[in-house]
Amino acid sequence: MTHRGLLIGCGFFAGNHMNGWADAEGAEIVAVCDLDESKAQAMADRFGIGRVFTDAEQALGEMRPDFVDVATTVPSHRKLVELAFAHGAATICQKPFAETLTDARAMVQAGEDAGKPLFVHENFRWELPLIALRDALAEGAIGDPAFARISFRHRYDVYAGQPYLAEVEQFALMDVGLHLFDVVRFLFGDSADLHCRTQSMKPGIAGEDMFLATLRQKSGAVVSVDCSFYSVEVPDPFPQTMIRVEGPEGTLDLTAGYTLNLHKDGKLDSRSVEPGVPVWGEKPWHAVQDSVAAFERHVVRVLDGKEDPQPSGAHNLATLAMALAAYRSAETGETIVLDAFAEQAR
Ligand SMILES: NC(=O)c1ccc[n+]([C@@H]2O[C@H](COP(=O)([O-])OP(=O)(O)OC[C@H]3O[C@@H](n4cnc5c(N)ncnc54)[C@H](O)[C@@H]3O)[C@@H](O)[C@H]2O)c1
Repeated sequence: MTHRGLLIGCGFFAGNHMNGWADAEGAEIVAVCDLDESKAQAMADRFGIGRVFTDAEQALGEMRPDFVDVATTVPSHRKLVELAFAHGAATICQKPFAETLTDARAMVQAGEDAGKPLFVHENFRWELPLIALRDALAEGAIGDPAFARISFRHRYDVYAGQPYLAEVEQFALMDVGLHLFDVVRFLFGDSADLHCRTQSMKPGIAGEDMFLATLRQKSGAVVSVDCSFYSVEVPDPFPQTMIRVEGPEGTLDLTAGYTLNLHKDGKLDSRSVEPGVPVWGEKPWHAVQDSVAAFERHVVRVLDGKEDPQPSGAHNLATLAMALAAYRSAETGETIVLDAFAEQAR
């Protein structure tokens, strides 16, 4: 059976969604929607889509899709996700899931009321290098992780494709930060508490473009997460996530150029975990593009009843709480206990 999908939001990143759907067996995008008709039409022309809408409610009413892929920016997410569920569609929401936990919880509730799955488009956990690292940890390569450093630093001009990033007051933590916090949970489970410092370095932007967070995991492990959009390095490593994990029996590190190293028993084993470049993709975006396609194949398996959403909206509540708690920590200088923070935010 082919699941019929509606894409809402035909901006900068949505082309990757559409390319991924075109490759995904078992799903077909049957209509696209954008407030800006010229963007919707351009996307329809590029991918041979028959129906174009500028109003999401009209699109849902006429098309009755099995699933909706929301690829808009965060201010529209709650309204669109609730609309999609009101029309009985399984729903995918791009990150950031929401600006507040109240909005995020309302979307989770709407999915439960509709009895349909809600996914958050957290594609980093679908990147092949991160899956290889997770598998090595799960196989016990280094024993139980005690320390990890997760780092995403670059000076790629993200503002060229996404000019709104220069204008948002909450930038790095709500953009790549959310991905990195999801990676923490993917690799090491839930965090107990968090401390964070932020910096705004690039002249003229409204939000923070650097942060350093330190986390204590419920497992007892200590994790640092750092991110910068204003770091000079040649060649620029964007959009790679560098990760070092230390355990009692060894160290795993994911280094520039997608090499996964295992330091153990006096030996260094290195292997390439670089994803291929999709036929429609290009470097340096290929790891991201490959992960979008992998995530969408997973969505089809969920719609077929074979898997549970990774991650679901309900799972993503705690990830969003981490980013919001990081802002609180940066403002107050305090270490934030995450369960209590999420409880207070009710
Ligand atoms: N997962 C990733 O790796 C990744 C990468 C880039 C962007 N993103 C996320 O994807 C989302 C979109 O980012 P972008 O850079 O493509 O944004 P964008 O501004 O280029 O595109 C968003 C589009 O949504 C449309 N839109 C807004 N509200 C709408 C509504 N109510 N109905 C129909 N259309 C509406 C806008 O007109 C615009 O064309 C953001 O939340 C961003 O954080 C994720």
